[in-house]
Amino acid sequence: HSSLRDYDLSVPLESRTGLRQGLASYGDDKFSLFLRKAFIKAAGLSDDSLSRPIIGITNTHSGFNPCHANVPQLIEALKRGIHLHGGLAIEFPTVSIHESFSSPTSMYLRNLMAMDTEEMIQAQPMDACILIGGCDKTVPAQLMGSISSNKPIVPIVTGPMMPGSHRGVRLGACTDCRSNWAAYRAGEIDIEDISSLNAELVPTGGTCGVMLRTCFTMACITVALGLMPFNSATAPAVSSARLRVAEETGARAVEVAMSQRRPQTILTRESFLNGITVLQAMGGSTNAVVHLLAIINRHPAVAGSITLDTFDEIGRNTPLLVDLKPSGDNYMTDFHNAGGMRALLEALRPLLYLNAMTISGKTLGEELDAQPFKGFPYSYEIVRPLSDPLHPNSSLVVVRGNLAPQGAVIKASACKERRLLSHSGPAVVFANTADLAERIDDPALQVSKDSVLVLQSIGPIGHPGMPEAGMLPIPQKLSKEGVKDMVRISDGRMSGSAGGTIVLHVSPESAMIDSPLGIVRDGDMIRLDVEKRLLEVALSGEEIQRRIRERETNLDERSRQLGKRVMTKKRGYRGLYESRVNQAELGADFDFLTADGAEVL
Ligand code: FES
Repeated sequence: HSSLRDYDLSVPLESRTGLRQGLASYGDDKFSLFLRKAFIKAAGLSDDSLSRPIIGITNTHSGFNPCHANVPQLIEALKRGIHLHGGLAIEFPTVSIHESFSSPTSMYLRNLMAMDTEEMIQAQPMDACILIGGCDKTVPAQLMGSISSNKPIVPIVTGPMMPGSHRGVRLGACTDCRSNWAAYRAGEIDIEDISSLNAELVPTGGTCGVMLRTCFTMACITVALGLMPFNSATAPAVSSARLRVAEETGARAVEVAMSQRRPQTILTRESFLNGITVLQAMGGSTNAVVHLLAIINRHPAVAGSITLDTFDEIGRNTPLLVDLKPSGDNYMTDFHNAGGMRALLEALRPLLYLNAMTISGKTLGEELDAQPFKGFPYSYEIVRPLSDPLHPNSSLVVVRGNLAPQGAVIKASACKERRLLSHSGPAVVFANTADLAERIDDPALQVSKDSVLVLQSIGPIGHPGMPEAGMLPIPQKLSKEGVKDMVRISDGRMSGSAGGTIVLHVSPESAMIDSPLGIVRDGDMIRLDVEKRLLEVALSGEEIQRRIRERETNLDERSRQLGKRVMTKKRGYRGLYESRVNQAELGADFDFLTADGAEVL
């Protein structure tokens, strides 16, 4: 990038890298570049700096996001890696989302972050972009946006927090948050215990410390997709290893910028099948099913070729190998110390597409060969071999039937009472989360341990953003009798750290007027049979249609025009969200952002 040539009006701008990208703003490319250089020099950058490949870094640090507390240190290490390898690092902010501080739900903001990430990568002149994700929705949002923008990208995550300790017992967010709160509700621990536990559940910055949270599931899947180094998912947030991963990521970004390896080229159908295999083998978060479908449906060459049924098919042939909370007993740091993703990929070798490309330019098989894992397994207790799995198959199962014609998901490996995987019982229906909060602990609630708890209106449109309310609490009068698990059904999601016999993501959701879930009433008999992949309500087709017609008479005209959705808001982002979000089996993305989004606008 000779700067003098840039000002010579007779010399064309022959390359479109670095600052020369996207110069149409003023109708005169040379003037636009002249202005751009004038402004960037205000940051103290020399012509020499500006002649290097520009590596953008998404700064997702936020005071409201403790899972990203180490982002400033990571940026320092990323910059070191970039500058040592001849690039120029320029950081910029994007939306940052934390689970606990995002109302109405973090999922509601995922698509906003995906749009922000896509548009800012696209708009600003960079040759590659490093995406700093971590907390649950951030990695999916960044992958969705960057696949659509298709500029070269390199993801990194903030890494897991350390476990805490209370009276000699290890604790980790968020499985232990839920289990201890349930114990407090049941009167098993007192107010002093629950109060002192509170200070130990999240003892350091970083993402949640149980593997099966969405944050870690997505981090591990990103490794399986070939986009991050093997140890990048598991190195703890507060470790020096995490900083070395960042330095390596900075160096990799310069290389990716030079080679212009783009996500739509690196990622193929096989890459995603590998991701799903890893998801099943670790009994990962059910949320990852929704996120992966959203990511896949952004990819023009893969969209539509992988569906919910693909997850189920892979699950039937993939044993559960990883013993971590909540399916198992261990924490993320244990998985890291047992070899982490390198160990798991070694165990899964026969089930993986080893010819899938990775961000390094080598195939997954070549990367595994280049980094022999001599110690497998460091711990059979945490990463099991294919010959001795924790469970022979199907961690995540897809069920269908007249209650979920477009599918629903259950994490069979997290079920606490196996008998419930084949169960019939009368429905106890809650119309929404407010109704649930009001009645669930009412001593007069007509419920028994054989009832099936149904929660409506927590789907993509319903709440909106599919809150993680799918793990309905056991009614207090039953939990005091020692009932630990019941069949629970909703159109919402649940945290990866939650467990129980819980059917999620029922589609169509109850906010769609033709949803069978939306017309279920107290006392309707519901049957779940996981082995047969069945979720049914004992109602005839005529009765279902009659109830749907009855419901339809109350629908306003605008909702009728928008595909018969029960919308609550009409303006702003919320109006956009409720009118354009698609259903869970498509990823709960905006219909106009998917690979075939052009067809709906
Ligand atoms: Fe951020 Fe768990 S709340 S990863």
